[in-house]
Amino acid sequence: MKTWTRRILLGLLALAALAAGLVAVGLQMAERKRLRTLDVAVRAVALPTSADALGRGRYLYASRGCADCHGRDGAGRVFATGQGLRLAGPDITPAGAVARYRPEDWVRTLRHGVKPDRHPVLVMPTEDYTRLTDADLGALVAYVRTFAPARGNPAVIELPLPARLAYAFGALKDGPEKVDHTLPPETPVPEGVTMEHGRYVAQMCKGCHGPALTGGRIPGAPPEWPAAARIVPGPGSTLDRYPDVPAFTRMLHSGRRPDGSPIAVMPFEALRELNDTDVAALLLYLQSAPGSGI
Ligand code: HEC
Ligand code: HEC
Repeated sequence: MKTWTRRILLGLLALAALAAGLVAVGLQMAERKRLRTLDVAVRAVALPTSADALGRGRYLYASRGCADCHGRDGAGRVFATGQGLRLAGPDITPAGAVARYRPEDWVRTLRHGVKPDRHPVLVMPTEDYTRLTDADLGALVAYVRTFAPARGNPAVIELPLPARLAYAFGALKDGPEKVDHTLPPETPVPEGVTMEHGRYVAQMCKGCHGPALTGGRIPGAPPEWPAAARIVPGPGSTLDRYPDVPAFTRMLHSGRRPDGSPIAVMPFEALRELNDTDVAALLLYLQSAPGSGI
């Protein structure tokens, strides 16, 4: 073998060893990050008991995505599978992960992404829920606490290697990294077809469409997922396909564009549940959002 060939081979071997070493270090860093402990001081919110409030809680549970990942009955559910990817929400009935939750634990998990064991949630979209008002958070928790005990299925979080490395090196963020822990709870606005209420509803789109709803690749998503669309006005916006409430509602109910083609990834099981006021307010807000840092 010629000397230069041997040199190149040795060089490649050294590079491969270096890469393997980096991966091993990365995986260790990811594990350490997932097991770090966080302290967030929280106050419990009042848990209502009225039928109206429980109805509101049921509506939020169905329309804001909880049911997609935890099941309609809270028993837990596999919600994503792919190459090297398997994700399931845990049982959140009294027999499950929340069996020993105190009222303040719900606030810390849902608003701050920190579980009672002080570890971060990794997959649950904390950024979608951190701005729930006290009243909505209370209604949601009160409703979840009415579930009948199920079988105690645990959370499953298996991420492909690139996602675990992205997590280690900061490109993929966990729940607590994505929210501002210092903000006071959201100020309640009356439900109605207004910009303010629309802004409140649009909170649930930010986990995928980004903080300014300008779209782009969803961090940690499997490679086969398309990038999220821009859903505020501006270059490349998809919003002009939905100029009025009926067109927007048809998309949310059918999971299809006006030309009939299916839209990937969007949680239509939940979006289908949005009521008329929330849908109209949401569209009003999206149409008038300048798409810069809102
Ligand atoms: C995209 C899927 C998804 C959605 C939407 C979601 N969750 Fe979760 N949830 C999870 C996963 C996965 C976990 C496990 C923790 C993690 O993410 O690392 C979890 C954890 C939890 C826990 C903590 C259990 C523990 O171990 O202490 C609670 C409570 C919870 N979810 C309630 C809710 C409620 C209420 C909603 C709706 C407002 C919701 N979740 C929406 C996927 C989801
Ligand atoms: C779990 C991630 C996720 C969530 C949550 C989500 N979206 Fe999407 N959305 C996507 C992805 C990914 C695409 C691109 C789909 C494609 O190209 O097939 C998309 C596309 C769209 C489109 C463009 C459809 C078209 O005509 O091409 C609109 C409009 C939209 N989303 C609105 C919303 C609104 C409003 C919300 C909140 C109520 C929301 N999305 C929540 C992931 C999400």
